[in-house]
Amino acid sequence: MVLEGVEGAGKSTQARMLGDWLEACGIPFTLTREPGGTEVGEAIRNVVQDRPELTIPPETELLLYLAARTAFVKEVALPVLERGEVLIADRFSLSTYAYQGYGRGLDLDQVRRMDRFAAGGLAPDIYLVLDLPVEEGRARQKAAGKREDRLESSGEGFLEAVGKGYRELARTEENIRLVDARGTPLEVHTRVREVLRRELPETFVICKD
Ligand SMILES: Nc1ncnc2c1ncn2[C@@H]1O[C@H](COP(=O)(O)OP(=O)(O)OP(=O)(O)O)[C@@H](O)[C@H]1O
Ligand SMILES: [Mg+2]
Repeated sequence: MVLEGVEGAGKSTQARMLGDWLEACGIPFTLTREPGGTEVGEAIRNVVQDRPELTIPPETELLLYLAARTAFVKEVALPVLERGEVLIADRFSLSTYAYQGYGRGLDLDQVRRMDRFAAGGLAPDIYLVLDLPVEEGRARQKAAGKREDRLESSGEGFLEAVGKGYRELARTEENIRLVDARGTPLEVHTRVREVLRRELPETFVICKD
């Protein structure tokens, strides 16, 4: 399962709360984040996200994320799934469709084809898109004192297009569910639980509350 959404939507917070829930239920899981999670992925993350001074063409940006994804799938995701654990991923392919497709304006079909190569055809059971207005996400980041990364510095229009992309993709694709990300972390977590119990009942049948 994958948590998605714009910056500050609460992905990392909800991933941790979801992990705590699985732990309490006795379901083995691993929590990961893209584009990090592997040594080469962290190095790529440092170039593509943490250096606002760099000018990176959209195609280069796409290839960097996909390069990190290949390593993530091989080194992290597949071994976790082969062990029979639940994988909670903080971002995956849907981020690429939303950011590089809708946000940067690269051709979506092309992006999908290249992503299929990078991900080796691996697709998650479900994407939960934490749906929050861009400015609310920004306000949360600001309140936490987080400085803007390179993508956030791409401007309001860029992130608006990303948010719109997520909502559009959720309307057309099978395995995407929007979750209202407003309210307290606990309120959002309660919604996440509801969606997961409904969509993946066999996984969560052993969770008593
Ligand atoms: N429901 C919430 N209400 C208020 N603040 C929240 C909520 N959820 C998370 N936060 C806070 O907002 C900030 C951003 O949350 P978080 O890091 O989980 O978002 P994210 O989607 O992972 O962001 P990024 O895309 O930058 O990784 C954090 O400081 C977090 O503590
Ligand atoms: Mg995060």
